[in-house]
This record gives sequence, structure tokens and C-alpha cells, in this order.
Amino acid sequence: MTSTLPTPSPTDLRGRVALVTGGGSGIGRACAVALAAAGATVHVVDIAEEAAKSVAAAIGGRAHGVDLARPAAIGSLPSEVDVLVNSAGLQYVAPITEFAPERFALIQQVMVTAPFLLLRHVLPHMYAGGWGRVVNISSVHGLRASPYKAAYVAAKHALEGLSKVAALEGAPYGVTSNCVSPGYVRTPLVEGQIRDQALAHGVSPDDVLGEVLLARSPVARLIEPEEVASAALMLCGPHSGSITGTSLVIDGGWTAR
Ligand SMILES: NC(=O)c1ccc[n+]([C@@H]2O[C@H](COP(=O)([O-])OP(=O)(O)OC[C@H]3O[C@@H](n4cnc5c(N)ncnc54)[C@H](O)[C@@H]3O)[C@@H](O)[C@H]2O)c1
Repeated sequence: MTSTLPTPSPTDLRGRVALVTGGGSGIGRACAVALAAAGATVHVVDIAEEAAKSVAAAIGGRAHGVDLARPAAIGSLPSEVDVLVNSAGLQYVAPITEFAPERFALIQQVMVTAPFLLLRHVLPHMYAGGWGRVVNISSVHGLRASPYKAAYVAAKHALEGLSKVAALEGAPYGVTSNCVSPGYVRTPLVEGQIRDQALAHGVSPDDVLGEVLLARSPVARLIEPEEVASAALMLCGPHSGSITGTSLVIDGGWTAR
């Protein structure tokens, strides 16, 4: 029996609508750019409204200045969405004994509850159209733990679980759900961590990079946001229908050890 699929071709998202949270910066911005370049109309959602506007203006998309920690705000976003990328996130580093409970709650709200509410918001449209792609930007911290990152590690593990449930429920409707799980990516979120750790330990940013962040990484460099975006785009491509409920790890070999 011969296959009915065409030979692999570039991802063509013309006529599709995408919504990218955290689209004003870093990985979210790179995803918004890549999806727009593939032809999608992109809604750029970010609490940083000016950043969202500038990305939307550059790619012919629409900006939404929204605080995803506020559940009510999610109802104001478009629901006729074919591709959902959950990228908005933040970090807070402290031992559990000193971890501020309100920080913990905020991180769960933005990085777990908002993706859940967005799924509720957009899945009916995806189901009705028989096609949808959910890409959750998780982390190696969705699969492994590090000390002092209780909220972040808990949230990313939760996101990995949520993504798998969406994969099981979406499969009969042509909707896939996956995580892309990077190691350290060159974005403002990581640049802030490098700066803070250099100050805390009285060492240079290069030392923090080489001796702390990349110490266990066989590919000893930061990952670029575009490398993560190209994985997200591949998950929306013509032959992605059987990739669901999984995590695509982009970590320079960090978890291979
Ligand atoms: N940079 C890394 O090394 C790395 C590694 C693994 C996973 N990640 C994940 O990738 C995602 C993007 O991170 P990044 O590195 O691009 O960081 P970033 O700081 O460049 O971008 C995060 C964006 O999320 C937005 N955001 C934060 N709180 C929000 C809220 N309440 N409502 C709406 N928007 C909000 C920020 O304004 C920002 O534009 C995060 O989920 C992060 O956990 C990053």
C-alpha cells in the first residue's frame, strides 16, 4: 500500500491563526516570528504590552497586553485559534524554606493555570475544525529538578502532565499537544539569572555561564531562541500528526548524562 502523504515540505500555515503567550520576548517572540514566516496570522500575548506591539508590528500580527495571572483576562483573548504556543513564564530562585508563597502561587498561575484556561478557551475551535497544534514551552526542569527552583520545577512538571492530557483528549479531533523542553536559552530570563548569580558569587558572568549553567552540558553553549522556535514550527508541520503527548528536549545533551 502506498502512502497518501506528500513528500516532506516546509511548514505552510497560511490560513491558520496562532496565539503565542510571552510573545513579546525571547522564545515566545522567536516562535511568533517563525509562525508568521510560515504564513500564520499571529496573536502576540504578553504582559509587556509595548514589547507585544513591537513584535506584532514586525510580523503583521495583533498585540494583546494581558496579564495571564488574571484568569478573567484570558476570556478577552481570541478563541478561534489553530496553533497555541504557551511560552509566558518567569523564574524565582530561593530555598524552599525561604520561598515566598505568593511567588510560588504566581508562577503556578502564569505557567500552569493560564495554559489550562487557554486550552479550555481554544480547544472547541480546534475540535470543530478537526486540526490543532498545542506547543507548550516547558524546560529540562519539566523532566529534572534543580535546587532553589521549587515553583518553576513544580510548574514545568505540571505543564508536562497537562500537555499529555491534552494530547489524549485531542487525538480524536486531529489536535496534537507537545512540550518543547529546552536547556538554557539565550533570552532575558537567563541573562537575568547570569547577572544575579555573578553578583551573588562575586564572579564574572562568563564564569557563571561556563562553571554553573553549562557545566553539565556536552554542547557547551547557550541555545538560541530560534532553535526552540524551529522545533515548535516542526510540531505544526505537514508530518507532525503522530507526534503527540511527548517532550522534544533541546538541551545540548544535558539530560543524556
Ligand atoms: N531561557 C531559558 O533558558 C529557558 C529554558 C527552558 C524553558 N524556558 C521557558 O521558555 C518560556 C519563555 O522564556 P524566555 O526565556 O523566552 O523568557 P523571557 O523573559 O524572554 O520571556 C517571557 C515572556 O513572558 C512574559 N510574561 C511573564 N509573566 C507574564 C504574565 N503574567 N502575563 C503575560 N505575559 C507574561 C514576559 O513579559 C516575557 O515577555 C518560559 O516558559 C520559560 O520557562 C526558558
